Amino acid sequence: MEATELRPVLDTFERRPDVLISLLQAVQARLGYLPPEAIDAVARHARVPRSRVYGVASFYSQFRFNPVGRQRVAVCRGTACHVSGARLILEEAERTLGIHEGETTADREYSLETVACIGCCGLSPCLSVNGEVSAKLTPKKVRKQFRTVKKGAPE
Ligand code: FES
Repeated sequence: MEATELRPVLDTFERRPDVLISLLQAVQARLGYLPPEAIDAVARHARVPRSRVYGVASFYSQFRFNPVGRQRVAVCRGTACHVSGARLILEEAERTLGIHEGETTADREYSLETVACIGCCGLSPCLSVNGEVSAKLTPKKVRKQFRTVKKGAPE
């Protein structure tokens, strides 16, 4: 990431600590995640210690420290899905994609995360790929859904 890449974003915010969350949101919207260089730039701009920026960004689940894939796979871990086997679905997704929860494939095609509920509890267990839901899953269906994925080390 070039330092100048963030300049247009930073320049829309005043140089004050109380803009921190909005500034982090804007930077993440620009880059897709918050790399260490962006954390440094935000800290300098908002005039707060780097540790405070990390503290705030770690507190809110909306902020990511790793790049996301073009296809965001979200396995539901809500109550209904949990009861109907979400753990097995996540394990199979991890095995098939070759990454763990919170990681992105080396080619940046897939990232894998878990979410609280995707609103299809009656069809659990579920996952979504870029918002498109796959329901009533089994490990076999997960394998089939991602069978063309080339496994690769995460970033
Ligand atoms: S708990 Fe999984 S869709 Fe609601």
